[in-house]
Amino acid sequence: MSPNIHLLGIEGMSSKQILKILKRSDFFLNVRKKRKLETLKGKLVINLFFENSTRTKASFEIAAKSLSAEVLNISVANSSIKKGETLIDTASTLNAMKPDFLILRHPNSGTALMLSKHVESSIINAGDGRHEHPTQALLDAAVIRRKKGNFENLNVSICGDISNSRVARSNILLLKTLGANVSIIAPPTLIPKDIDKMGVNIFSNLDDGIKKADIVMILRLQAERMNGTETPSRREFHHLFGINEKKLKNASKDVLIMHPGPMNRGVEIDSLLADNNERSLINDQVEMGVSIRMACLEMLYEIRKNLNE
Ligand code: NCD
Repeated sequence: MSPNIHLLGIEGMSSKQILKILKRSDFFLNVRKKRKLETLKGKLVINLFFENSTRTKASFEIAAKSLSAEVLNISVANSSIKKGETLIDTASTLNAMKPDFLILRHPNSGTALMLSKHVESSIINAGDGRHEHPTQALLDAAVIRRKKGNFENLNVSICGDISNSRVARSNILLLKTLGANVSIIAPPTLIPKDIDKMGVNIFSNLDDGIKKADIVMILRLQAERMNGTETPSRREFHHLFGINEKKLKNASKDVLIMHPGPMNRGVEIDSLLADNNERSLINDQVEMGVSIRMACLEMLYEIRKNLNE
């Protein structure tokens, strides 16, 4: 099998591959502010985002620029996509400009894989529908590794809208690969059907699901992917599943909380908790986003270089 020049998901990645990226992101975390690296000098990275994004898009841009690449941001609102062009035609047009990387975010699951079959550049999946968001899971793991050391027997509880979350899926795949115990906590209507096959513990009661957790990952209600029938009201969700300091009482004493953003304060997370620097890793996640994306760009660039030699 030829080496994979794309990063489409965590599925299929080995613990060795994952740990290599995590270690490399630590290196970038330390050097990024001190000096600009030349790894991607003369290379072109195109950010192609069909869904809104603040953190992911900005951090890919900063990561690419920190490695001296040129970056082009395609805003879907101003592109020919609004004139009816298909994704494949848009991609073929961009492909003709010979980018080295296409960073794709799209509302439909599977689009990153589809695109990878039509272009010569490396595709990085920056979130495809409910499917995967591999760089988010990698950056989350890099933050956990810095705080907790290793993953064996670490208890991670993921709480909120699991059904609609590509972040949850990628994190479950990654954390299980590295040996963590993963629990999910959600209203029954927001638990995906075959989730037990992923080897997680399933809870619809927050107190039970949070017991002995070392890390609690909190997810927002992703209303843009819902049809309006599967959720309790925001108030009810807040009451039963919203996390505050008090509701962490059954978790491990030094439990840490994470959130991929964007946060809905007062719904899935209490403001005081989000801003509590002793507990909250939310800013660490944003900072790590840049280093992990540098590590991913470098990894794919090295694979392509070796293939061409
Ligand atoms: C997540 C996403 O887009 O899937 N956000 C992110 O990339 N930081 C989570 C979300 O939108 O809730």
